[in-house]
Amino acid sequence: MSTDAIVLLKEDHKEVRQLFRAFEAADADAKAVKADLVSRILEALTVHTYIENEVMYPTVRELVPDLESDILESYEEHHVADLLCAELDAMDPADERFDAKTTVLIESVGHHIEEEENDWFPKVRAALGRKELQEIGARMLEVRATAPRRPQQPSSLKKAADALLG
Ligand SMILES: [Fe+2]
Ligand SMILES: [Fe+2]
Repeated sequence: MSTDAIVLLKEDHKEVRQLFRAFEAADADAKAVKADLVSRILEALTVHTYIENEVMYPTVRELVPDLESDILESYEEHHVADLLCAELDAMDPADERFDAKTTVLIESVGHHIEEEENDWFPKVRAALGRKELQEIGARMLEVRATAPRRPQQPSSLKKAADALLG
């Protein structure tokens, strides 16, 4: 079985996109269906963001210093997604802002995924060998086993508070 890091991350992206499409296709008043889809979106994003933050990004940053600014931008995009996920996790699906906030999450993450797939992954693949990508992927699978599955509110909120309050 391939453990190529980029292949594994693209599989996650595919699952996330399918959940996004299902949310967008749900009837406006299908509250329970949408609440369940959002719960699955939050879980998929929490795990995916975690393995990128813990394994993929720091490893590529170390091995390919030229990609540092891309990685810093990605960390910031993850941070925005973390905040939206934490808010959605705490929000009642009956709240009038629930669908709107989910739509903003979908737009923001959709943009991030496109940048990773169209711009960043090709640069990473060009810079790293097959064996390195296999090793990074194997480590991501290990970390995935114990990754958090729900948004970690204190950590994303603390980062935002630190940035505001210094
Ligand atoms: Fe990412
Ligand atoms: Fe990703």
